[in-house]
Amino acid sequence: MPVRDWDDFYTSSSVTDLSWYEETPTTLIDIAKLGLMPAETTVLDVGGGASTLADHLVERGYEHVTVLDLATTAASNTSQDPRITRVAGDVRSHSCDEAVGLWHDRATFHFLTEPQERAAYKSVLAQCLKDGGSAVIATFAPAGPTMCAGRDVDRYSEGELVSEFAGTLDPVACRTHVPADSDSDQRPYTICRFTKPAAS
Ligand SMILES: C[S@@+](CC[C@H](N)C(=O)[O-])C[C@H]1O[C@@H](n2cnc3c(N)ncnc32)[C@H](O)[C@@H]1O
Repeated sequence: MPVRDWDDFYTSSSVTDLSWYEETPTTLIDIAKLGLMPAETTVLDVGGGASTLADHLVERGYEHVTVLDLATTAASNTSQDPRITRVAGDVRSHSCDEAVGLWHDRATFHFLTEPQERAAYKSVLAQCLKDGGSAVIATFAPAGPTMCAGRDVDRYSEGELVSEFAGTLDPVACRTHVPADSDSDQRPYTICRFTKPAAS
């Protein structure tokens, strides 16, 4: 069966019916744990889709929030808040005009099942994230599904996610999160907070 285009999900279903939908993004907790970031902190939500994370951040006063997503139609399912910049593009080949202070990715990295895709992602991350900046990255945990959106995913334990980014990011803390509404369809996540070390 052909893999459905990402845009197909955003044009044929209600966002709230998507398997990855969250009413309130759980990674807001992880962002809060990073400590008080100044309002001018620039944020890039990688594969942000139609998540409301960006809306929550601008409501909290963050002035420079960009959502990057491969699906050009994901933005049409959002609040259309003019304070949020939405960019259609592939994280594996993205280029940032300015380095950001926070890189956020919930459920995009785990689709990169080929080593060269992960290397490309890390290279973009290294270019886009400021020295001393933070990253919050969430993937499916080992007990999570092996596929999502008709695609294979890689699942990561806390140690595996930390190891995956060794040399690019320093770990701060990780946790496992099981969405409360997933009794019949367990979709646990591994969520790690990192910082990017200053260049030596
Ligand atoms: C499972 S959804 C998660 C969406 C959002 N982060 C959330 O938590 O609701 C994965 C998202 O990543 C996007 N995506 C997949 N591969 C991508 C890539 N290579 N570059 C940018 N976005 C990508 C998809 O279009 C989709 O919106």
